[in-house]
This record gives sequence, C-alpha cells and structure tokens, in this order.
Amino acid sequence: MTLTPSPTTSAAPTTTTLVHPPRTGRTEWWRHAVIYQVYPRSFADGDGDGIGDLPGVTSRLDHLARLGVDAIWLSPFYRSPQHDAGYDVADYRDVDPLFGTLEDFDAMLARAHGLGIRVIVDLVPNHTSADHEWFQAALAAAPESPERARYIFRDGTGPGGSQPPNNWTSVFGGAAWTRVTEPDGTAGQWYLHLFDTSQPDLDWRNPEVRTEFEAVLRFWLDRGVDGFRVDVAHGMVKEDGLPDWDGTSSMIDGAHEGIAGSEDGSTGAGNAGPMWDQEGVHDIYRAWHTVLAEYDGDRALVAEAWVEPLSRLARYVRPDEMHQAFNFSFLTTLWRAPDLRTVVNASLVASDEVGAPTTWVLSNHDVVRHASRLGLEVPGSKPNGIGAADPQPDEALGLRRARAATLLMLALPGSAYLYQGEELGLPEHTTLDDEERQDPAWWRSGYTERGRDGCRVPLPWASGEPGLGFSASGRTWLSQPDSFSRYALDTQRGVAGSTYEVYRSALRLRREFRLGTGSLAWVDGLPSSAESSVLAFVNRDVLVVTNFGPDLLRLPADLQLLHASQDLPLADDDAVLVPADTTVWARLT
Ligand code: GLC
Repeated sequence: MTLTPSPTTSAAPTTTTLVHPPRTGRTEWWRHAVIYQVYPRSFADGDGDGIGDLPGVTSRLDHLARLGVDAIWLSPFYRSPQHDAGYDVADYRDVDPLFGTLEDFDAMLARAHGLGIRVIVDLVPNHTSADHEWFQAALAAAPESPERARYIFRDGTGPGGSQPPNNWTSVFGGAAWTRVTEPDGTAGQWYLHLFDTSQPDLDWRNPEVRTEFEAVLRFWLDRGVDGFRVDVAHGMVKEDGLPDWDGTSSMIDGAHEGIAGSEDGSTGAGNAGPMWDQEGVHDIYRAWHTVLAEYDGDRALVAEAWVEPLSRLARYVRPDEMHQAFNFSFLTTLWRAPDLRTVVNASLVASDEVGAPTTWVLSNHDVVRHASRLGLEVPGSKPNGIGAADPQPDEALGLRRARAATLLMLALPGSAYLYQGEELGLPEHTTLDDEERQDPAWWRSGYTERGRDGCRVPLPWASGEPGLGFSASGRTWLSQPDSFSRYALDTQRGVAGSTYEVYRSALRLRREFRLGTGSLAWVDGLPSSAESSVLAFVNRDVLVVTNFGPDLLRLPADLQLLHASQDLPLADDDAVLVPADTTVWARLT
C-alpha cells in the first residue's frame, strides 16, 4: 500500500492528512511515556489484611517491568482516615500504616528505579482531611483567625446564619458547605468542601498554604520521586466573592448517557462554574514548575483537570506550567469513528499549540472500566457506577472493543495512561453488593449513584488461590466477582492472544517503532462500505486501522501485519481482513 505522509495529498485511492509531525529534539521521558496507574489498596496485599500496600506493590513490580511500562503513578498512600480512599490526606509527609511505612516507600522506589520504572505520586492540594492538624486547629480557633484563614470558612446567610454562604453543591452530592459548632458550643461558621464533609477545601489565596505545599513537593522530590499527579488541579482557586452557581458542580459524571462529541472535541466531561478553572490556578503551577526545575532528571507534573475544550486544558501545560494533563475528552468519547477522529485531532492541535505532549487515557479509579463501558448499550457512555439492577454491559463485546480501543490509543503519539487490571481485560464489578460500597458518592447521592467501587476491586493474580492471589490470607477489602478468576494473570501469561500478551506486544512495538514521539496523518479512502465506520492513520511508518463495523474491512496486500487486537480471519490471498471492533497495526512496505 503506497501512502505519502505529506500534508494533504490526494493520490488515489487513499489520501493522507498530516495533523501532527514527529517530535524531534524534545526527549524528556514524559513526552512519550506509558504510565501505569497503581491503586495501592487494590494492587497487591503484602500483610494479609485484605488491603493492598506498598510492600505488595514492590513484590509485583516485576510484572510491570515485564509488561513494559515506563512509569507508575501511585494513588495516595499518605496518612488518612480513608473517608475517600486516601484522597483525604491527614499528613502529607507520612505513609498511612495501612500501606506501610516511609521505609517501605523508599524500598518500593528503589526497586522501581532499579527496574527502570519511574514513579509519580499523587498530590492532593485542593483539600486536606478534616483530621489534618491544620483543620483541627481551625475548628478550635475563632472566626477570622489565621488558623481558619487556611481554609474557606464563611458566616452563613439568613436568620442567625443558618443557611450556607452560597448554593454550591458537592461533587459527591449534597451541599458543599458544613456548619461547625464553635468551641463555646454555639452554632458557628460554615466551611467549604467541594467533595465530602471530611475534605475541607484549602484557601489557595493564603501564602501559608502555598509555602506548605512547596515544602511537601520538596519532601517527595528529595526522596527521589519523578513527579506528581495533581488531584483536582482545576479546582484550587475559587472565583472572588464565591458567587452562587445554578449549574452542577459535578466533576466526574459528564457524558452520562453519552454525549456526541462536538467539533472542538468536547464531550460534556468538562466543568464550568465559579469553583473550576479559574485563572489563579496557573500561578500555582508556574511556582511549582520552578521547584521541579531545581531537580535533575526531568521531573513532571500531571494535571487532573476536568476542563473542556481541549484548547482550555492546554493552558495547564504551557511551557512554564505543568508537563501533562489527563485527556478526559478522549476518555469520554463514544465508540464512534468520527467522534474519536475529532477528539484526537483537537487533542493534538491543542497540545502542539503549547509544545506539550498529548496524553491518552481510557480507564482510571474514578470511572467505569473501559472494558465495561464499551459493552453498554451506548458504547463508551459513562454512568457513575453500575449496580446489579442496572442494565448490564455485554462482557465479551466490551472486552473486544476495549482491546481495539487500547491498540488505537497506544499507537497515538504522546503519552498514554493505563489503569491497573486493564492489561488483564478486567471488567467493572457491576453486581457488587450495595452493603460493601465505600465510595462516599454512594451515600452522599442519596444512594442513587453507585459510584466508583466497581473499578477498584482487588486484582486477580492467580486463579486457583484464595482471593485470587491478591493477599496471602485470601482477604480482599471488596469482593471480587466470580468472573475475575478467568482474568487472573496466571491464566494469561505466555498465552498467545490473551489480553495481557496483546498489551505486552503493543508496548514492545510502540517502543520499537517510536510511536510515542511519532506523527499522525489520517488515511482516508480505504476500501470500505462505510467510511464513517473506519478510523485509519499513519504514525511514522505504521498504519493503524480500527474497524468499528459491522462490515469486514479488507486492507491492500502490500502490508506487513504487526499486531492486532483480535485473531484475524484468513483471506484467500495475502490481504489483511479486519473484522468489526478490531484494531490492526501494519507496517507500510
Ligand atoms: C480526584 C480523585 C478522586 C477523588 C477526588 C477528590 O478526582 O481522582 O478519586 O475522590 O479527586 O479528591
């Protein structure tokens, strides 16, 4: 197959349109890394209490080295009462005893580095835990005191201040304000919490807050971490005067039923409102950029910012701010070729504009796993959790599409994020007993949103063992669905065509063909009955084709097949046949 990857050529039968040239000169690791999210409480348990921990992570790092990832990002393991699974930090400079000790952290870091794996840790700066010594001091202190000034305390409105200061609602449901009882026993001020009541928002206009977090960054940089994933990066500064807002403050439930993408790549996953994406956040990241720059080894800041459109998100990764931002527009795009093309285009254009790499992500600890989302009636839609009484995803179809989606993603230039267990093809636990649920979103939504527990179930490592090898004691903090034994690592390792081996080969080929620093040119005009059911592009000299179906797609014969998300049917000549919901990688010859 002859393709000329130059700007818009029209040599029949195919045309190519270059939207992103290969990267030259910029070699920092985070520009092209594949970064694997470890959710420590569900990865591996070293001490048998049924909750994963840092020694557990260390013991399984060889799995990640063999898989071929460049880095890991660890969700929080800091001291915390665990009201939001550790995203409520009581001490930013210590490890929670649930997860081990600082020495366990150092041992994990040393082992990872020894295996050539970089380590990013989670930083949660929008709010502390209510157990943090600062908040405890604020509760004990008077209104207008310096202790209260670290948080967002305000007098109430209405008679006796009995109504909240404004009408904001929490991301997890319910009001975003809680009234405190003053030390003298009277009903007092209110404090803001965009999330749970146990997560009071800090006031980032207060210089003391800024100084403290710069010290926290240095604490972990001095220990040798390679970067930080910054939680709620778009929420830290609120609009002056905290004006009322009649929209939803919801952050993670855009595209519920699946909103078709708009031309700028937006899918409804972004946030608007006076609590999000305020100009003032960028000063914080400029300051942090200079802190990281004092250290060697290209340390990186990654924004968790649910901001749309992508051109707005790109402002977080301008040259003197953060290094990467999660691409949630990509994650929330429906399983449709034209929508995915639009979001990929918009992502590359927006990040090229500021000289940053684009990132790609399909799953994390806050969303229904993509192997299940893609098996829903609207493939790729994003309910906030799935319960036993809800319509159930088609497991086989979901996995088939998930593998196709992953191969599409891993062929794109930029940096890609994987969420633990997706390399096994794990589905969401969609029938978890409601009694077991621990996500505050479940009860704060008045038991209407099932929330995120279903994607946080402990990993299956060994099919025949109690707890599927997650913990030597067999205990698991959430029960695993029966199906997980079919997905256990030991049933897939070395098995050609298993999801695990498909991921592993993809990572090897991605590295070999330097796709992460590569290019993207769309290919149009492939022989297909419905153009809109095919996505095809060239990255360097690799042709990537995803067939969304239903028809079989026949590719020209002069291609060298490199990889496929499924077994391919045999053609009676040398042609490559691509069935529905399948991605192939082929070398242009
Ligand atoms: C982020 C985290 C999520 C957490 C929330 C509050 O969105 O990813 O898990 O609940 O912030 O910290």
